[in-house]
Amino acid sequence: MTGTPPTSERIMMLANGYWATGILGTAASHAVFTHLDAGTDTADGLAARAGISERGAQTLLDGLVSLGLVEVRDGRYRNSPDAAAYLVEGRPECLGDFAKLKMAHMGALADLPEVVRAGRPLTDAVVEVADNPHWERLVTAIAAQSVPVAAIAADVLGLADAGEISILDVGGGSGVYSATWLRLNPAARATQLDWRPINAIAARLLAEQGLADRFTCLDGDFHTTDFGSGYDVAVYSHIAHQEGQEDNVDIFGRLRDALRPGGTLVLNDYVVDDDRSGPPFPLIFGSEMLLKSKHGGTWRRADYRGWLTKAGFTDVTFQPTASPATLVFAR
Ligand SMILES: C[S@@+](CC[C@H](N)C(=O)[O-])C[C@H]1O[C@@H](n2cnc3c(N)ncnc32)[C@H](O)[C@@H]1O
Repeated sequence: MTGTPPTSERIMMLANGYWATGILGTAASHAVFTHLDAGTDTADGLAARAGISERGAQTLLDGLVSLGLVEVRDGRYRNSPDAAAYLVEGRPECLGDFAKLKMAHMGALADLPEVVRAGRPLTDAVVEVADNPHWERLVTAIAAQSVPVAAIAADVLGLADAGEISILDVGGGSGVYSATWLRLNPAARATQLDWRPINAIAARLLAEQGLADRFTCLDGDFHTTDFGSGYDVAVYSHIAHQEGQEDNVDIFGRLRDALRPGGTLVLNDYVVDDDRSGPPFPLIFGSEMLLKSKHGGTWRRADYRGWLTKAGFTDVTFQPTASPATLVFAR
């Protein structure tokens, strides 16, 4: 006989997949990765530092070892390289708040069988509701994901040395692209279009970094609000997945018109291979959009290329990032 016989291990882990969300979210809530980073390396020590029970600390550490986020050797614990890079508090890339937020979303999955039957959310969709408070909780939690991506895009486009450029960020959320790029280029200016309460969050965060005088907000629905014109760079990050084909093509066309000739559109999203065989994160993220939007999904490279061409862009390139998202540059 050849090959390994099937076992139930992986299916048991998947059926209990919510354990992973719960253990990661709980570890983030108790700053476990931050304590390990600071030198705590035993369950007793963690219990004392985090103010949790010793039984709870040991159970959390066991779960984190199982998930590959913590390593154990001779009874001493330390963060895995991924946890050290992306889960220690105080770093702009820290995904701890995102992990906590996802733990609060777990209950929504109970609706998935009905949502799959209906092909759309059961109640009011999240993304189609104006000024939805959902975004206020989400945008600061997801900003960490875009920190490395904004840095890569700046590098590719040479934004630090580009002089007096003008940037438009549609659905800019926490303002992470504007903040990153304005810090890199002291002559650049940025405009963000988003719902008013979200723009207020971004304006506060940019003011805290001394960037308020070069940051302008346009409040409103990006389907209907005028983008303005003459921008050198436009950004559309983690938005295309909440929109359907028709709206994406329309928005890409309006972004093309808002850019000066030769300007660049920077898209960032979870992009699926053309044969829908991967990558794993974008494939599975489609369920999130089925639960939360009427027309969203995770779109293929061919979809982006086709829609951007239809909108008037002639040069489209894809660039992987150190995250599940792919950058798309269109000129
Ligand atoms: C998933 S977040 C992305 C934030 C940011 N671009 C990033 O990559 O971190 C989506 C953003 O789009 C905004 N948004 C969603 N629908 C919108 C609409 N119809 N008009 C204006 N803003 C909208 C939300 O308020 C939120 O800030």
